[in-house]
Amino acid sequence: MESRVVGQPVQRKEAMAKVCGAARYVDDLQPPGVIHGATIRSAIPRGKILDIVFEPGVPWNDFVVVTSADIPGRNIVSLIHDDQPCLASQIVNHPHEPILLIAHPDEDLLRRARKLVRVQYEPLPAVFDIDSSLKQETIVWGSDNVFKRYLMAKGDVDSVWTEAAFLVEGEYSTGAQEHVYIEPNGMLATANDREGVTVWGSLQCPYYVHNALMALFGFPAEKIRVIQQETGGAFGGKEEYPSIIAAHAALLAWKSGRPVKLVYDREEDMAATTKRHPSRTRHRTAVSREGRLLAMDIEFTLDGGAYSTLSSVVLSRGTIHAPGPYRCPNVRVRSAAVATNAPPHGAFRGFGAPQSLFALELHIDKIARAVGLAPDEFRRRNFLETGDSTATGQIITQPLDLAALQERALEAAGYRAKLLQFQSDNPRSQLKKGLGFATFMHGAGFTGSGERHLQSVVELQTTADGGVRIFCSMTEMGQGTNTILTQIAAETLGLPYEKVTICQPDTALVPNSGPTVASRTSMIVGMLIERAARELKEKLRSSAGPFRVRTQYREPPGVHWDDETYRGDAYGAYSWAAYVAEVTVDIATGEVQVDRFTAVQEVGRVLNPVLASGQIEGGIVQALGFALLEKIIWRDGSMVNNQMTNYIIPTAMDVPPIQVLFEEIPYEHGAMGAKGIGELPMDGPAPAIVNAIENALGISLDSIPVTPEVILDRLRDHVRELETSPV
Ligand code: MOS
Repeated sequence: MESRVVGQPVQRKEAMAKVCGAARYVDDLQPPGVIHGATIRSAIPRGKILDIVFEPGVPWNDFVVVTSADIPGRNIVSLIHDDQPCLASQIVNHPHEPILLIAHPDEDLLRRARKLVRVQYEPLPAVFDIDSSLKQETIVWGSDNVFKRYLMAKGDVDSVWTEAAFLVEGEYSTGAQEHVYIEPNGMLATANDREGVTVWGSLQCPYYVHNALMALFGFPAEKIRVIQQETGGAFGGKEEYPSIIAAHAALLAWKSGRPVKLVYDREEDMAATTKRHPSRTRHRTAVSREGRLLAMDIEFTLDGGAYSTLSSVVLSRGTIHAPGPYRCPNVRVRSAAVATNAPPHGAFRGFGAPQSLFALELHIDKIARAVGLAPDEFRRRNFLETGDSTATGQIITQPLDLAALQERALEAAGYRAKLLQFQSDNPRSQLKKGLGFATFMHGAGFTGSGERHLQSVVELQTTADGGVRIFCSMTEMGQGTNTILTQIAAETLGLPYEKVTICQPDTALVPNSGPTVASRTSMIVGMLIERAARELKEKLRSSAGPFRVRTQYREPPGVHWDDETYRGDAYGAYSWAAYVAEVTVDIATGEVQVDRFTAVQEVGRVLNPVLASGQIEGGIVQALGFALLEKIIWRDGSMVNNQMTNYIIPTAMDVPPIQVLFEEIPYEHGAMGAKGIGELPMDGPAPAIVNAIENALGISLDSIPVTPEVILDRLRDHVRELETSPV
């Protein structure tokens, strides 16, 4: 049957509401009697709280004040481990850690009051980077500063070092990155004994917030209600932190008996909420004379900040992606997420993979140089193919031709001709041009047994006007959830797109379909909706309804994963990509301009070509910032450039022409054949761009962001090396 809805660039479901200003974000809500909340945070990285003093200057009796003593249930932010308090009581472990909450109807008075709360501390020693944390001279978390370790091994790396023709080592690092979603974090809450707790907010995962509020209040599930408002971007930045803001707003509402709104401004959002984990990756690689990978020994370390939050799962994904899309008989990845006294680092588009893939794709170019092969030829000799097994022992069963994908990208980019052109032009110019690329993959859905544990549920209902309504907990945050899920249902049911609607996520109305993360919305939840739609269609054949159909996740057949050994099918499916960057570097200023970008990816079936290309283009811009511009300045664990004036993100002026090309090989267990899309453009651009800079300048780099200062420093070093090298 010809597809009428899926694969078409249908209009976004919520487009009109957003364009007309009818869409309601949390700060647009003004319930009667609402008061405003504020958070008093730690001013030091680590220490004992000795005293809290309320200085005169505001009528303190008119304020609502909440401390940890006011928490009805457990003082934790319930997520994976219970190490993070909702409000610090005796000890603070990072700058900006919440200590107490205040609320008042008058926002100006609230702002003044904030400055009049003085917390007295006895400072404790703190650690601020991976190395000092690993030294374990100062223990700031658990017994060894380590949140989580993994050992992922295949074959025996140590057996091949002596027989290898080449041994190549490298160390690479990536910095933290701020999400800079358009809408900062915010929540509105009501709470009382009779009705329980209700929160409305900007969030990705309604049931994460629901779970956290249950633990905090000690209430049963039905006395907690979480409603997602229109959400202005998230990128992983509204995955875990909204639980904290919801908890704070709810505690203030509980104590005051009034609705409380707690909306962060940009400075508070940047300083206090999560960022991408800084990383360090060490590679040691054995290669045969013919340029085949014999052994990859990888050490991958993430700075997790002060509490464990999601670091163990970010680490897991980074670990599994660390050896990339290459065939290698012996692989060992030893990884760790360690504690520092910074605000906890968290989920961010790609979830650990952009960090480990950056290191790998720089390292692969380095190996190619050592072996004396062109980077594309070295990759061609080592790509995974159908029937090969990955580092976790997952057999690639789907059709896979990475050499062809790479070739398509290089051709589209005009790679070979330009490479020669630049080599001949560069010596005569202050503007050095270069080309670089990266080949990589991204696994969609939760890692390993994650989806089996989640057991996601969706529901479809017929409506009185002859349409169908979707009930699930997947959130729209600009990426297109509402549109894609509606397309899938409409196509399967044979209904017009307009006849299918989707319920705004509200835990009182929608089942738990899991969190909106990891490209699981289209591939996994979309599949549940497709199944439900097929069942509903069957029922409608025999009678007119009304009907409700629920479906629950079932693991695709033949999928095995072992959490103990870290062996097996890490993901239901991987998407694959080859990205090419063309850059100009001005050696007088150190400035890098990305002139052109080519992104070729195999993502299963493309459900909506406009949204899919938008994901790719937007992600590339975000990754361009990660690679070149976005540098967080830390002082004692605190981001000090927490404003958009001095935390530099790409603007329209920085965005190159981007060519987006899809290969479509339908995946049988994904909705309508779809796999994941959203993370690929965060994984590949940084190594492609940095490889291009190396190609332009003939220097090697190992760390991002590559700011102009870095380029100028490296060029000076390079000149010094040339001057001192024996002739
Ligand atoms: Mo999450 S980083 O939104 O998968």
